[in-house]
Amino acid sequence: MAAINVQKMLKKQGCLKCHAISHQKDGPSIKKLAAKYRDDLEATVKLRTHLTSSPEIGVEGKVEKHKQFEPKSTTDLDAVIRWIRSH
Ligand code: HEC
Repeated sequence: MAAINVQKMLKKQGCLKCHAISHQKDGPSIKKLAAKYRDDLEATVKLRTHLTSSPEIGVEGKVEKHKQFEPKSTTDLDAVIRWIRSH
């Protein structure tokens, strides 16, 4: 199986404009997200919902719809979620 390059995928979709690995940008850092969901048994479901349903978020005091992840497959989506949680 070919390894999925998650960071490349996130960069291409513009996610890294708002998320960095270890520091806060407009969005929380990947490490912070990993910590937030570390002990949450429903983490996968919640993250999947977040990434596929464009929930409303606050960016610089304005309400925006969160960017939807556009996976070529659910395998890509699951790889992103595993990658986030591994930090
Ligand atoms: C315009 C800036 C912006 C972009 C682009 C963006 N995000 Fe976010 N993201 C945010 C903000 C702000 C939050 C915090 C939302 C909140 O907690 O209300 C967030 C939250 C998240 C969360 C955590 C949700 C949770 O349940 O706590 C994940 C995972 C996430 N983003 C992944 C991504 C991915 C993957 C992409 C690319 C497809 C992306 N983001 C693109 C700003 C952005």
